[in-house]
Amino acid sequence: IAVIGAMDVEVELISQSLTRISQSKSAGVTIFDGYLGASTDEIHVVATVAGMGTVNAAATTQHLIDQYHPECVIFSGIAGNLTDSLRINDVVLGKTLVYLDTDMRMISQSAPFTDEYHSDEKLIEIAHAVLDDMNIKHLAGKIATGNTFVEGEKAQAVKQLTNADAVEMEGAAVAHVAARNDVPVLVIRALSDDADTEYETFREFDVSVYADTAAKIVLAIAQKL
Ligand code: ADE
Repeated sequence: IAVIGAMDVEVELISQSLTRISQSKSAGVTIFDGYLGASTDEIHVVATVAGMGTVNAAATTQHLIDQYHPECVIFSGIAGNLTDSLRINDVVLGKTLVYLDTDMRMISQSAPFTDEYHSDEKLIEIAHAVLDDMNIKHLAGKIATGNTFVEGEKAQAVKQLTNADAVEMEGAAVAHVAARNDVPVLVIRALSDDADTEYETFREFDVSVYADTAAKIVLAIAQKL
C-alpha cells in the first residue's frame, strides 16, 4: 500500500512502524519503503511526505502509483472541522471529496469525468470497523480540498458552498489522481482545529497528537487488508 501525508508529523508514526525499512529520494520526495505486520503475513508499504497543497499531492500520488503499483493509496493527516457533530481529534473519512475554487465544468471534461471523487467503499468499511474498535468518534462524509488554509469567516463560506464536514489541502487531489489510475483510495483526516481558527493560532498547536490518530488508523487498517 502507498501512504501519503502532507507534513512530516503525518507520516512519522508510519515510517517508524516499518521493518526492513529503506529510504530513497525521487520526484522531490523521500520515500520510506518497508513492511508492516508479522513476518508470515506482512504488508509492503511505501510512505512519503508529499508537501502541502493539491499539486504536491497529485504529483506524489502519480509518482507512487507509477513506481510501486500499490493495491491502494491511503492519505493520512489532519483537517479543519466544519461540523457541529464532531470535535477535535474525531475523524472524518472522505467518502466524497471536492475541490474548493475549482470550476468542475472544465476539470470534469477529462478522466475520471466526474465533479467529485470518492474513497473506496470497501476501505471505508474496514476503516469504520477499525475506528469502532479504537473507540474513535467518526463519520464518513464530505471533505473539501483547496490550496488555502481556511480560517476565520472563510469557514462559514466553505461550509455554505460545499456542505463539507472537514477542510484540508490535499484529499481531493489524491482521490482525483487515484481515480484516473483506477486505484482504490482512502482519505483519513483527524480534526486538528475548528476551521474558523486563525492560522496564527493554529501554528501554535501541537498537531502531532491528531496526526498520530490518523496514522494509528492506517496502521490498524493495514493489518486487516
Ligand atoms: N488542515 C488542518 N486545518 C486546516 C484548515 N483549517 N484549512 C485547511 N487545511 C487544514
